[in-house]
Amino acid sequence: MKTTTTLLLSLVFVLLFSTSWARTHEDFLQCLSLHSPNTTSISKLIYTPNNSSYLSILQFSIQNLRFTEPSTPKPLVIITPLHESQIQATICCSKNHGLQIRVRSGGHDYEGLSYVSEVPFVIVDLRNLRSITINAETNTAWVESGALIGELYYRIAEKSKTLAFPASVCPTVGVGGHFSGGGYGALLRKYGLAADNVIDARIIDINGNILDRKSMGEDLFWAIRGGGGASFGVILSWKVKLVVVPSTVTVFTLDRTLEHNATNLVHKWQYIAHKFPQELFIRAFVRRVNSSQDGKKKTIQATFQSLYLGGVDKLIPLMQESFPELGLTKQDCTEMSWIKSILYFHGFTNGEPLEVLLNRTQTSVLYFKAKSDYVKEPIPVTGWEKIWKKFYEEEAETAQMIFSPYGGKMDEISESSIPFPHRVGNIYQIQHLVYWLEEGEEASKRHISWIRRHYSYMAPYVSKFPRAAYMNYRDLDVGVNNKLGNTSYAQASIWGSKYFNNNFDRLVQVKSKVDPGNFFRNEQSIPSKEW
Ligand SMILES: Cc1cc2nc3c(=O)[nH]c(=O)nc-3n(C[C@H](O)[C@H](O)[C@H](O)COP(=O)(O)OP(=O)(O)OC[C@H]3O[C@@H](n4cnc5c(N)ncnc54)[C@H](O)[C@@H]3O)c2cc1C
Ligand SMILES: *[C@@H]1O[C@H](CO)[C@@H](O)[C@H](O)[C@H]1NC(C)=O
Ligand SMILES: *[C@@H]1O[C@H](CO)[C@@H](O)[C@H](O)[C@H]1NC(C)=O
Ligand SMILES: *[C@@H]1O[C@H](CO)[C@@H](O)[C@H](O)[C@H]1NC(C)=O
Ligand SMILES: *[C@@H]1O[C@H](CO)[C@@H](O)[C@H](O)[C@H]1NC(C)=O
Ligand SMILES: *[C@@H]1O[C@H](CO)[C@@H](O)[C@H](O)[C@H]1NC(C)=O
Ligand SMILES: *[C@@H]1O[C@H](CO)[C@@H](O)[C@H](O)[C@H]1NC(C)=O
Ligand SMILES: *[C@@H]1O[C@H](CO)[C@@H](O)[C@H](O)[C@H]1NC(C)=O
Repeated sequence: MKTTTTLLLSLVFVLLFSTSWARTHEDFLQCLSLHSPNTTSISKLIYTPNNSSYLSILQFSIQNLRFTEPSTPKPLVIITPLHESQIQATICCSKNHGLQIRVRSGGHDYEGLSYVSEVPFVIVDLRNLRSITINAETNTAWVESGALIGELYYRIAEKSKTLAFPASVCPTVGVGGHFSGGGYGALLRKYGLAADNVIDARIIDINGNILDRKSMGEDLFWAIRGGGGASFGVILSWKVKLVVVPSTVTVFTLDRTLEHNATNLVHKWQYIAHKFPQELFIRAFVRRVNSSQDGKKKTIQATFQSLYLGGVDKLIPLMQESFPELGLTKQDCTEMSWIKSILYFHGFTNGEPLEVLLNRTQTSVLYFKAKSDYVKEPIPVTGWEKIWKKFYEEEAETAQMIFSPYGGKMDEISESSIPFPHRVGNIYQIQHLVYWLEEGEEASKRHISWIRRHYSYMAPYVSKFPRAAYMNYRDLDVGVNNKLGNTSYAQASIWGSKYFNNNFDRLVQVKSKVDPGNFFRNEQSIPSKEW
């Protein structure tokens, strides 16, 4: 009897709940048409689960298979605006109908925050707002948020062989998330982050106003360059300063296994990579491979990959002087244009045309989990030897650590210049990654558990109090807001201090001013003091 009552009650609850959401959903759609000057055109840009293309539109830019499972919460509606007014309408109607907004530019968020939410939500997908205007006279460009960074690189190269932009090595990253979270690539040591080179931006705020740098004011303009756009509004476009590169740059990639001194090379790299001239960027990554001598044996391989802003004739003596152990020869190096180096770093080494940078279809999407760290003191050889052992565990077959050297320009920019705080004193950044191919909970659990163990294991060797992390390598393990959105400052500062250090307080002040009601929120959005 009791169970029947409970059953009935929960059935009634489920019915009430779902009809009320269905109504909200329809009211929301109606609101959108009412607020759109051209109803015919907006209906072509709206996808609900009733539309047969809904799933393919949703999955189009998803970068992490972990968030494509049937159990992953899905949006009630996806809007792919062609006009800014359609975003204004979406903000207004979402507010009125109690829906959350997730803004998606390139969809590369590591935790899927641009397209997953546990509360009823709509996605504003900016794929259609991606125009790029290059001004080669003033060395500036306006880029809409929906553009991919590879499209910006391509458009720059169309105009000039000696202009570039310091951003992601991966061309499919979206400008919207990338710039608003910092953004770095192989030009980091010479020119800093992408966000360091943003000079204006246009944003739609909580009231639907379109603001530029002048009308938004320096506080908000500061916040969106590294503090994450999603806490503050919808960023429409960015004006960036282009940077100068030589017409010829030099690249190389060298693999060294343990049998070829990988441990000593990685160890030495830590002392010198952040002190090289700013023109030289050598990153390193390590992973487990099958030994080439004995196919059954496993070994660790360190790969050193470099971009040098100059010719090979200058690079070789520089390397002979500061890193002779690597044994770099002229034959290992290739001279090319900067834009070709973008293809090279992405693994397009078979003479692919530059147009591959315009291709928005993702090549290989896998399941993955990542974490980040900053290193202030070199890790001793004994430390490396212990770390390698973790890479022989089963789940680590496709795990990697990627080391990106800091120093150079990064040391010259103050910690409070933009919200991204990891500057002087950090010798390199680590990205920890584990990939897998098998579907399902179990595989996911095993691999995530591996990377969490590995991360704990690394604690003694990396930054402390707080253990710093890079916001664009989003990791919900470092702390989250509560689901209702009434997150206390203390709770949010657990993750906030790791991403932003002392800049977190100013971000909270800006948030409290521009979005006091905390409409623009997610699992790691800046809290408002009002709550
Ligand atoms: C394969 C791969 C390679 C990467 N390589 C690099 C690298 O070399 N260097 C580096 O620094 N990072 C790198 N990243 C991380 C990348 O910088 C971040 O994931 C970045 O946030 C992606 O931006 P997006 O627009 O593609 O992501 P999205 O998933 O679309 O957005 C990320 C976050 O920003 C918000 N957002 C997006 N657009 C807007 C907007 N217009 N207004 C307001 N909020 C917005 C979203 O809501 C979400 O919270 C890489 C990621 C992947 C998956
Ligand atoms: C409305 O949009 C449709 C489709 O984009 C277009 O053909 C039509 O001319 C537009 N009408 C007005 C009044 O703008
Ligand atoms: C989705 O379906 C609705 C209702 O059938 C329709 O009005 C709308 O145009 C469809 N959306 C797209 C993008 O085709
Ligand atoms: C989706 O289709 C169902 C059944 O065909 C209908 O009841 C519902 O109103 C539709 N929803 C929307 C948002 O169009
Ligand atoms: C390995 O590196 C160490 C330290 O850099 C060096 O002393 C040694 O000669 C190297 N061994 C080989 C085989 O290259
Ligand atoms: C390494 O060897 C194992 C078998 O020992 C094999 O399954 C795997 O595919 C090999 N990996 C590579 C990258 O060749
Ligand atoms: C874009 O890339 C995908 C995946 O690599 C490929 O299948 C497709 O043919 C490419 N499209 C173009 C136009 O090159
Ligand atoms: C958030 O709201 C819930 C429900 O009202 C309440 O139980 C919880 O204590 C609140 N949390 C904070 C940090 O205010």
